[in-house]
Amino acid sequence: MTILVTGANGYLGNLIVKELVAKGKTVRAMVRDAEKTRIRLGALSDKIEIVSGDVTNRESLKPLMQGVETVIHLVAIAIEKGGATYEEVNYQGTVNVVDAANDAGVGRFINMSQNGANSSLPYRFLKSKGRAQEYVRDHAKNWTALRPSAIFGPQDEFFNSIARLMKITPLIFPLIGGGKAEFQPVSGFDVAEATVRCVDDPTTIGKELALGGPEVLNLGEIEHRIHKVVGGPRLFVPTPVAVLRPAVWVMERVLPGTPVTSSLLELLAVPNTVADNALVNHFKMTPKLFKNATIN
Ligand SMILES: NC(=O)c1ccc[n+]([C@@H]2O[C@H](COP(=O)([O-])OP(=O)(O)OC[C@H]3O[C@@H](n4cnc5c(N)ncnc54)[C@H](OP(=O)(O)O)[C@@H]3O)[C@@H](O)[C@H]2O)c1
Repeated sequence: MTILVTGANGYLGNLIVKELVAKGKTVRAMVRDAEKTRIRLGALSDKIEIVSGDVTNRESLKPLMQGVETVIHLVAIAIEKGGATYEEVNYQGTVNVVDAANDAGVGRFINMSQNGANSSLPYRFLKSKGRAQEYVRDHAKNWTALRPSAIFGPQDEFFNSIARLMKITPLIFPLIGGGKAEFQPVSGFDVAEATVRCVDDPTTIGKELALGGPEVLNLGEIEHRIHKVVGGPRLFVPTPVAVLRPAVWVMERVLPGTPVTSSLLELLAVPNTVADNALVNHFKMTPKLFKNATIN
């Protein structure tokens, strides 16, 4: 039976597709650029079906749901660019995918939510992810939601963005917000394994499962660990988020691929630790340590 993966060309999408294929599952990968996906997935693309779809276009989703037993919904944007908004992609896009799945009689829905996602927060990204999960909870059939903390691994966005910034700021680097914000970095490989195990685990139905790594690290500790990989002399200067905000605002407007945005700075205001870690408590896995991360 076919599993439709939305956002299959993304960071987590690649890992989840690989894990599904390794487990012998039939995968339909929904992407916007099929050619880019074939290049990214290499030989693996011959073992899956690649289809084109856009979550903001309801009509494009209908034909993709035929014969699908399970949807794994990963599409979301962390940075609003090119006119795409959190509301349109993260919230309405999820509504569109859930509705299309229901119309086609899809019986199982796995949603990649986010630790800290909450519809009542004032922060637009986390709010959009929280509203999306509420729609899944209220409308999707046999849903499971996964709520990872910040994900690390080769080519991850968050930690590699800090590494890239550090590489271009050779002597002084801001200890962002005094380095106090707490995270529980979780390996992308662990998140992919847990996601795929949900497919055949009915005990995960109707649950929101938080996923974290084995240790809580504050941003200062994370910056120092990244610095060990990046190398070179650096003086870490505690810098309040309020001081960084104007610089980030300018960067967003002049650098098309800026690694830090105002909405990402907002994430630092919400604790990103996981009290009840489902990787350990539900999946009985041993989460990988952040020091095993590869910073590109
Ligand atoms: N990375 C983390 O630290 C983290 C932590 C917790 C939760 N999550 C959640 O995990 C999920 C996957 O994240 P990720 O890190 O893998 O992100 P990612 O690498 O940016 O992947 C997101 C994918 O969504 C696709 N996409 C964007 N807009 C689309 C649209 N309108 N229609 C169809 N596809 C669209 C992108 O396709 P293109 O290639 O065409 O742009 C991309 O393949 C997200 O829901 C995210 O909120 C991530």
